[in-house]
Amino acid sequence: MTNRAPAAERAVALHRERWGAPAAISRAPGRVNLIGEHTDYNDGFVLPMAIEFDTVVAMSPGDNDTECVVLSEAFGEATFGRRMPKIDSSHWAAYAFGVHHLLVECGIAPGLWRCAIATDIPIGASLSSSAALDVAVTKALLHLTGDDWHTEAIAQLCQRVENEVVGMPCGIMDPLISAGAVAGHASLVDCRSLDMLPRRLPDGTVIAILDTMTRRELVDSAYADRRAACERAARWLSVAALRDAELHELERMPAELAVERRRARHVITENERTLAAADAMEAGDADALGALMNASHLSLRDDYEVSGPALDAMVQIAHASPGCIGARMTGGGFAGCAVALVAADAADDFAGDVQEGYRAVTGLDASVWLSRPAAGASLIDSIERHTA
Ligand code: GLA
Repeated sequence: MTNRAPAAERAVALHRERWGAPAAISRAPGRVNLIGEHTDYNDGFVLPMAIEFDTVVAMSPGDNDTECVVLSEAFGEATFGRRMPKIDSSHWAAYAFGVHHLLVECGIAPGLWRCAIATDIPIGASLSSSAALDVAVTKALLHLTGDDWHTEAIAQLCQRVENEVVGMPCGIMDPLISAGAVAGHASLVDCRSLDMLPRRLPDGTVIAILDTMTRRELVDSAYADRRAACERAARWLSVAALRDAELHELERMPAELAVERRRARHVITENERTLAAADAMEAGDADALGALMNASHLSLRDDYEVSGPALDAMVQIAHASPGCIGARMTGGGFAGCAVALVAADAADDFAGDVQEGYRAVTGLDASVWLSRPAAGASLIDSIERHTA
């Protein structure tokens, strides 16, 4: 992404400078969601892939320390110990301390520890930097305690950190794909059973991540509003979650529930599109996949109302650029990134045209990354390589 050393080297160097060689190094990737947006907390389907940007945690047991210490390349240092009875949910270190706190609740005893953190994932860009941090810290702590948890348990713990400690009512998608992605594949995830089915990109295509360079502001409440509207719609329809509702049932909803009806229409049609997209990938049908991504964007823009001027401009510019097969906003929405499916042999021209077109319309310099589907979180065992 830049000329800097990769996050793994930077995290280990940070740890070494302060505490010597780390005892555990873990990495967890960010993600881009190809389709299936705002469906995870409705027990529905999503189709994300891990990307080639990682958050890396280099950790060791605390020696003489009386507190846990988190040293972040981006945010500085924070400590946590018996003297700090309550976690400040708005603090950046709440993610790391939240993991510790919930592991203790699960009967795991990490004791005192210290860690250094570095990331290559753009923060606040809808590429799941916070879930990657949760997952990387969990992997490192479980390594120190000698515990081995499966992907779903790690993802559920990380979702609880977001929901209960940080106060963000998000779904399971981000930690699940960060923890469980299969290299070379996106995954069709059933967010009720947590089954993950790997799916390859159609031959001759690549995924482009298009950063609008706008960041979310004050949208946690909008996210919670959307989620609450879905829950009201599900209650009115007498279903456990909108995953269980059918489109024709929405006709019965009264006029005063017009907003809930539109939100539900997005969720129901998005689930259908996501399943169809997984089929299109199975069949290697790039055009069908691209058309579904385009339709997803319109539904998010018009029915779910979570797009925004920068995302809409980016998607429109992507559509007009060479080799574009489909494009849409990705992640929670309002700002951050769009994602495009692009013909591999046109990818360089595509990236150049998108940057030029976006600059002409907004005056902003967009970043465009091509990413292969990366592997889920892992421990990095060749510490020597990173400490040499
Ligand atoms: C955020 C949340 C996810 C998901 C997406 C929208 O990324 O963390 O759980 O709800 O928004 O699909």
